[in-house]
Parts: sequence; C-alpha cells; structure tokens
Amino acid sequence: MELYILLICISIFWFFFFNQLLRRSSSKKLPPGPAGVPLIGSLHRLGPRPNQSLADLSKIYGPIMTLKLGSVTTIVASSADAAKAILKTHDHSFSGRPVPASIATQPNPDATIAWVAADNSWRSRRRICATQMFSAQKLDQLQHLRQRKAQELVSHIKRHAVSAAPVDIGGAAFATTLNLISNTIFSIDMVDQDFDSAKEFKDLVWTIMENAGKPNFSDYFPVLRRLDLQGLKRRIRPAYRRLHEIFDEVIEKRLRDRGSDLVNDRKGDFLDALLDQCEEDGSDFNPITIKPVILDLFIAASDTSAITTEWAMAELLRKPDILERARNEIIGTIGADHQMQESDMDRLPYLQAVVKETMRLHPAAPLLLPHKARKDVELQGFIVPKNTQVLVNVWAIGRDPKYWEDPSSFLPERFLNSSLDYKGRDFEYIPFGAGRRMCPGMPLAIRVIHLMLASILQSFNWKLPPGTTPEKMDMEEQFGFTLRKAIPLLAIPVIETKLLKVLEEDQE
Ligand code: HEM
Repeated sequence: MELYILLICISIFWFFFFNQLLRRSSSKKLPPGPAGVPLIGSLHRLGPRPNQSLADLSKIYGPIMTLKLGSVTTIVASSADAAKAILKTHDHSFSGRPVPASIATQPNPDATIAWVAADNSWRSRRRICATQMFSAQKLDQLQHLRQRKAQELVSHIKRHAVSAAPVDIGGAAFATTLNLISNTIFSIDMVDQDFDSAKEFKDLVWTIMENAGKPNFSDYFPVLRRLDLQGLKRRIRPAYRRLHEIFDEVIEKRLRDRGSDLVNDRKGDFLDALLDQCEEDGSDFNPITIKPVILDLFIAASDTSAITTEWAMAELLRKPDILERARNEIIGTIGADHQMQESDMDRLPYLQAVVKETMRLHPAAPLLLPHKARKDVELQGFIVPKNTQVLVNVWAIGRDPKYWEDPSSFLPERFLNSSLDYKGRDFEYIPFGAGRRMCPGMPLAIRVIHLMLASILQSFNWKLPPGTTPEKMDMEEQFGFTLRKAIPLLAIPVIETKLLKVLEEDQE
C-alpha cells in the first residue's frame, strides 16, 4: 500500500514537472484559455455539466480555446465556424480518437468503429455498416419490423393507460430501441415484450453506458491508468465480457445454421452480412473482430435514440399547445386508427420540426465524441499540437444567439420553413457531427425516433403525474457520453374515447 502511494506521488510529480515544461514551450501557439492550477489544470472548472461550463468559458476565451484537463491538452470549439474548421477544413487531421480507459478495457478494442483511428480497417467497418445496415434500401427492407416494435411499445404503454399509471418514457424507448437494433443485427428480440422485467442484456448495456460516461481520473492522468483509482474498469469489464459471451452464443448458432443442410433460412440480417464478409479472402473481419462492431452499434444506438425521445416528450409536456398541435397534425393527417408507417413521416412536417428542435436543445452527444489531432495542425492562426484532444461543443452552438433567435425556448416552428437538416452541412446545427467521423447511424436514428414519437402521440394523449405542472417540470441535464434527463420523465398516457374504441377493436 505504501509503495502504491509512493508510486502515485512520484508519477504526479513527474507529470506536473513535464507539463509545465511542455506548456512553456508550446503555449504561445495554442489558442487562449484559462490558466490552470498546478497538477489538475482546469479540471475543476468542468463541474457536473461540462457542456454548460465550457459554453460559459468560451464567452471569455473565444470560440477556440485551450484547457489543460489534468495532463491532457484539450481544444474546445464553440462556434459554427470553429466546428467547420475542425470537422470540414481539417477533417482528416482531427479524425483521431482518444480512447477512454473504461472503453479500452473491452475485448479487442482495436476492432471497434467509434474508438479507433480513422484507418483502412475503420473505413471497411464503416462501409459495411453503410451498405448493409444504413442504406435506404436496407432500411426499407426492415421497416415492417420497426413498425411492429413501435406497436409493441404502444401495447406496453396501453397496459399503463388502463390503470392511469405513469410510464417511464426513457426506459420504454430504451427497451424498444434495443429490440430494434437486435432485430436488425440478429433477427431476435434481446428484451422481453414485458419491458418491466428487463432481461440481463438491457442491464449489461446500461452498465457500460453508465460507467463509460463517468468522468474518469485515469483519462486525465494517463500515467495512473493501470491503478483504476475509481474502479470503473473493474465494474465495466465483466459487462463487456458477458456481452461478448452472449454474442458468441448467437454467432455460433448462426454459423451452425449456415453450415447445416437442414436449416435453410438465411436471415439476411446484418449478422449474415458480417459473416459473409468473414468468409471472403483477405477480409479484415472474423467471428472475433465482428463482436466489437456489433457492441458499438448497440451502445451507440440505444441510449441516444431513447433519450432524444424522452427529451422530446418532456418538451411537449412542458408546452401543452405544442403537444396539441403535434397530435392534431398526426391524427388529422394519418388518422387515429391507422397503424403508423415510416413512410407517413413525410406528411408530418410539424413532428419533424419537433424532433429537430429537440436535438438542437438536447443533442444526445453534447460534445460529440472526443476527436484527436493526428499531427500538428494550424487552426485559425493557432497551432494545435499532435495528440491534442479536440471537443466540439454542439450544445453551446445550438444555443448561441448569434444563430438562433430566442435560443433557450422550445420553438419547433423555427424549423418549419428552414432548409437545415441533419447531414452535417450547416455547422450551426450538427447533432450527429459532421465529416468523416459523423454518426453513421443517423438514417436509422431519424426513422426510429420519428416512428416511436409519432406512435405514442397518435395512440395517447399525455399528462403529467399529479403534483407536477408544466411550469414545475425539472429539465436538469445529467452529463455523460450522452446528455440524459437527470430526473427520468414520468408521464401518464390517456386513451381518448375515440381511440379506446379503435384499440379495443385491434385487440379483438
Ligand atoms: C439520436 C440518435 C443519435 C445521435 C444524436 C448520434 C450522434 C452521434 C455523434 C455526435 C457521434 C460522434 C460524431 C463525431 O465524433 O464527430 C456519433 C458516432 C457514432 N454513432 Fe451515432 N448517434 C445517434 C444514433 C446512432 C445509431 C442509431 C447508431 C447505430 C445503430 C449510431 C452509431 C454510431 C457510431 C458507430 C458512431 C462512431 C462513428 C465513428 O467514430 O466513426 N448512432 N453518433
């Protein structure tokens, strides 16, 4: 124990010493930023909600600033121009990723999509996702499946509506999204239909999301990584291992089925596409390295889509007139008794505006994922040294009065006659990022969120639990990899008489 303490002290001393030396030799060229305190730099300034603290700091130090976070030099971009310089002008140079210690603890971390350098293997992983999972043709092929899952979500909520019991919107959306992804990848449900009795799978994904999102001392002082002082690696590693075991079972069964003359049903899902790739000569893929890809997709998809749905419902419940307008559009255009289809969304411009406005105020990844400079880069008159961590504060850009009138108000109308979209071309609005590291799952996420939201708005009116009023609703954020609602939204679904009749007929 004493030896440990001695080692920690020596490491901290050397880090402090070398940091000061490095800072002195390079600080002239770095963008401006707060003077850090010895050892921790500006870590203490991040607070529990770094997206907000960094937005405040950028008002003092400008749209491109430098912070020393422990021993990690970090550049933060907080304007559309700065984001464009990083994600478009110098896209290639900033396309690296720092890998958090908790993420690096998974088996074969080099085979992920999100946590590797943008090299050839990464490119082939992204390519197979783009062509075999996210292309319009592939997405259209599986839309019946997503529509079925959306109806299961409605049935789940209906059980609550009968007794006027509140629904945990984020939890229900999370379970639905997990099943949507597991059906797209494996053609099976990973969570049972009764969302309340969650299967092990949901808890494992949740454990990884929770712990990987926590600020980790090891990431700010890499020299201390091995010590895992907060025990995050110890908590997260078993969840990774167990998920790999679950994937092993599914993959082994599929390989047996594919090799058997008796079972002749190729599922045509993403797993089949991956296994086809594994069989190709000289392929980058094998049954071991496809597991981190699959895991990345589950993790990236489930929380982001669920929390966006939850924030949208929270904003709607806070603004009953907007809720009413959104429901009127759905019921007036689609009807109350028509099962919601993905193709219906084109006819729901107000709902689309609600989703866009939700992602402006509550981007699921408020600082994107961290980027890393692959070499020294000259950025708007400054030098960003190789290996610098680069954050883009999308949350701050989405609330900047320079681009948005009345920025903190939820006003979907602002998107009604606007050409802004999600594609990463308009840098004042980039909830999915932009450039080569932009979210590859965006086409699926858009479909899933609109479908879930439209389905639950069509089938139910919504009210807040007794004792809560729109004015009193808590909208506090909880920061992690994703920006959750700190207090989960509970809302009571109400079946209106005309809808009740339709639902009863459905049941018969
Ligand atoms: C509301 C839903 C979603 C939002 C807001 C979102 C947003 C993002 C953002 C901001 C990034 C990082 C971009 C960057 O670093 O520059 C990202 C990366 C990623 N997303 Fe999404 N995402 C969503 C849903 C999905 C879905 C449904 C999937 C897959 C099924 C997915 C898969 C990924 C992957 C694999 C990456 C890593 C890409 C890379 O590093 O090359 N995301 N996402």
